[in-house]
Amino acid sequence: MSKPWWQDKLVYQIYPKSFCDANGDGVGDLAGVLSKLDYLKQLGVDLVWLSPIYRSPFVDQGYDVADYYAIDPAFGSMEQFDQLLAETRRRGMGVVMDLVVNHCSDQHVWFQKALADPTGPYADYFYFRPGKEGGPPSNYRAYFGGSAWEPVPGTDLYYLHSFAKQQPDLNWYNPALREEIFRMVNWWLDKGLAGFRVDAIINIQKQLDFPDYPADGPDGLASIWRMVQDAEGIEAFLGELRDRCFAPHDAFTVGEVFNLKDGQLRQFVGEHGLFSTIFDFAPHMLASGPNGWQTPEEFKFAAWRGAVFAGQAACPADGLLGTIIENHDEPRGSCRFLPAHAQNDAGAKMLGTASLLLRGIPFLYQGQELGMRNCPMDSIEEYDDLETHARYDAALLEGKTPAEALALCQATSRDNARTPMQWNGGPGAGFTTGRPWMRLNPDYPTRNAAAQQTDENSVLRYYQRLIALRKSGEWGEVFSEGSFAPVWDTHPSLFAYRRAFAGRAVLVAANFGAQPVEQPLETPARLLLESTGSPAPLAAALAKGQLALAPCQAAVLAEETLQG
Ligand code: GLC
Repeated sequence: MSKPWWQDKLVYQIYPKSFCDANGDGVGDLAGVLSKLDYLKQLGVDLVWLSPIYRSPFVDQGYDVADYYAIDPAFGSMEQFDQLLAETRRRGMGVVMDLVVNHCSDQHVWFQKALADPTGPYADYFYFRPGKEGGPPSNYRAYFGGSAWEPVPGTDLYYLHSFAKQQPDLNWYNPALREEIFRMVNWWLDKGLAGFRVDAIINIQKQLDFPDYPADGPDGLASIWRMVQDAEGIEAFLGELRDRCFAPHDAFTVGEVFNLKDGQLRQFVGEHGLFSTIFDFAPHMLASGPNGWQTPEEFKFAAWRGAVFAGQAACPADGLLGTIIENHDEPRGSCRFLPAHAQNDAGAKMLGTASLLLRGIPFLYQGQELGMRNCPMDSIEEYDDLETHARYDAALLEGKTPAEALALCQATSRDNARTPMQWNGGPGAGFTTGRPWMRLNPDYPTRNAAAQQTDENSVLRYYQRLIALRKSGEWGEVFSEGSFAPVWDTHPSLFAYRRAFAGRAVLVAANFGAQPVEQPLETPARLLLESTGSPAPLAAALAKGQLALAPCQAAVLAEETLQG
């Protein structure tokens, strides 16, 4: 079996609206992305994943696509996109786009034609169904709140939307729709795209009789997830997408897939997998308590370590998971996957070490390499994200006070990670010369790329060293191809594992506790990297066959005797 070209790649997610604004209108754009390619190259990025840049009314920030073949003018032109492809290629990098095909925008011509002729062929690109007993066809709650069915004006029909009502679901059971999608995907791949991040894809399978489920909230509705979970058949759709589009182009693909059923992972990743990889969101799921996001759970070290290690153990030997700390839908990792005492730069470096060297394809989200933090807003009006507003309303309906509802939004909002990238300490944080479309995190005067670039001990400079080690000629294969084994996995504060390949082994160890840790080593070990900038105590301990880690210290060690 030859190894896939993307096996040793590192992916960096750009949220285009908030990355870099070159024309001063306050919104990030492709010219801004082009201006930062050298920064990304220096960081060690191989593949740049762009959240959607297609033409869109931006109800859900571009995840509502009105034209799959056009770049939204807010971001620039197709010429600039082609330039981006050329400039990334020149630097030995590639571009991955978001593929949003569970739904499109209600402004898409397909939906407009469907509305104009609700019994015509385009209506069957969507789910148009008659209502029931004077109401919608079933009692589903959309992910963004409210009924998942919206009346089709002038008819007794409703259309289905799993997300916002401006995001009608596409009917994958219609072969004509599938042909349209395959043609579009191939059009982009023919252009030279490296691949796709495939959005919300598990939702394309439906139970076509749309059964009701027992209500699970005070709105009397049941989450649409219930219907999706009991549906079957996604493998056939995704197999066709792979065979008709991805495989012939040898594309890199990563699926946004939640809650796989037992045994299903095998079908999604690995040699004949439906995707190159899928994100491992198990650690993120831990934040949801008994009542989901309404009962957010505090970080618990042992549970988090258990979830990460379980993902590593579950992944088949010929497959890789996408390891990920944060993205545009999640709060910042530096405020989340760390105990309170470690929610600082030292913790960000430690978390980066623990995550980036796992077995898998590492995904970084813009600003993670600066240790960017959540940005709690002062009022609900300040939030842009529609999901945050839906959560606020739902919390009020549950009986929470406005202050409690706002606190929930501050903890869980997707806008935490969507504030503009902090390039320097000047006005607009170097993100824009105009007025940023979303408020800047107030810590930008001190937390920014320019300041960190000149500080040897910064999170950014540490990430550069960490990524360089992951990709180094000497150790790269151990990280990209090596096995994973947990080490000291019942220790109260150590997060440690061994990566091994061809007789060589690396031990990664991080101390998440508030106290120093000492641990005898099984084999003599040599220090490759440590996160605090004060290696002397650790080096002295290693000389005595001991591992000694200060709080928030992470270390990467070459195990000498296992080398062959
Ligand atoms: C995915 C995206 C998210 C979007 C949703 C609907 O979860 O990551 O941002 O709102 O799909 O497209």
